Amino acid sequence: MLELKKRLSSILESPKHNTEEKLQKVCHLLDQEIPYFNWTGFYFKNGDKDELILGPYVGAPTDHTIIPYGKGICGQVAVSNETFIVPDVKLQDNYLSCSIDTKAEIVVPIFKNGVNIGQIDIDSHTLNPFTKEDLEMLEWLCHEVSKIV
Ligand code: SME
Repeated sequence: MLELKKRLSSILESPKHNTEEKLQKVCHLLDQEIPYFNWTGFYFKNGDKDELILGPYVGAPTDHTIIPYGKGICGQVAVSNETFIVPDVKLQDNYLSCSIDTKAEIVVPIFKNGVNIGQIDIDSHTLNPFTKEDLEMLEWLCHEVSKIV
């Protein structure tokens, strides 16, 4: 995990790429390195609107390019300001399906100056796959991302 964090840091610190390119590279690296991360992407608050707009991602195209606050796992995190780990998406009522293959999901908020400005969303094709180390790494990553957005 230390090695992965170093590689993530070097992407985020690179002077050669703009923010969007950096976030795209972050998605690619996570997708490549963690076999049970099967859709990895960022959502951000859409201007003044109480909705999320899809940012850089890696994985199957999703219909959910705009998500109103409160809807789905992502929309709930936009309101609760708390990480949401879903070990089994079938057990969730307020869930927006992106792919029939998705079995689990984790959404971690990104705070800038204490304000919830977006999130990283990971879908998995494996049931209950996310570890404490994943959670810790993703919270660290969101903190690092907040410095460049
Ligand atoms: N499952 C999410 C929607 C986004 S897709 O997974 C990419 C949700 O319930 O908010």
